[in-house]
Amino acid sequence: LFAKPWDFRTSVTDMANLPDIGGIEIAFAGRSNVGKSSLINALTGRNGLARTSRTPGRTQMLNFFSADDAPLAIVDMPGYGYAQAPKDLVDAWTKLVFSYLRGRPTLRRVFLLIDSRHGIKPIDTQAMGLLDKAAVTYQVVLTKSDKIKPPQLERLMEETLVALAKRPAAFPEIVATSSEKGKGLAELRAEILQLVLN
Ligand code: GTP
Ligand code: MG
Repeated sequence: LFAKPWDFRTSVTDMANLPDIGGIEIAFAGRSNVGKSSLINALTGRNGLARTSRTPGRTQMLNFFSADDAPLAIVDMPGYGYAQAPKDLVDAWTKLVFSYLRGRPTLRRVFLLIDSRHGIKPIDTQAMGLLDKAAVTYQVVLTKSDKIKPPQLERLMEETLVALAKRPAAFPEIVATSSEKGKGLAELRAEILQLVLN
């Protein structure tokens, strides 16, 4: 699945333009700069597939990626919590994202990315609220784990587990990753393959 040549498919700013895909879909969500685009590139082994940037707020639309005859599409979602975003942009984000989450039957799971250095912030809890309300299953992925030491990561895993246990919905296992070091990628690919096969 991930050995296929993944390609950019389309960018979407409104629900009317969602592409027809012949399979299931997964989406990557999280705060600006958390490492969504980097993780997509690492998973697909294609540097530069999803545009990454040091400047937060780089990805403003729903970006769709697919590979020829792969029964899966990957969606890079615009980051939330970008401090300098004007209110109308935030409103547009919420509107587009929520209608996408609620109105996309092929969407099987959202990977909710959390920066290992920061843990779950109030804005992430808000995002979880949206996901719960849209009844979309989400899996927490800790990113940039190369930036913290193993004992810190272990503590973060525990704290994240405690936070998730308070949520109303059941949740899949937390995965710690580093796009830079390749950590957790095999585990994440296996999770995604499970979704495709089910
Ligand atoms: P937006 O599109 O703005 O929401 O950001 P994003 O979540 O797509 O983040 P992006 O992938 O563009 O990465 C943001 C910054 O974090 C870049 O400078 C990346 O190089 C860096 N980064 C991403 N993943 C990792 C990682 O695993 N380790 C380290 N050390 N840096 C990372
Ligand atoms: Mg991005």
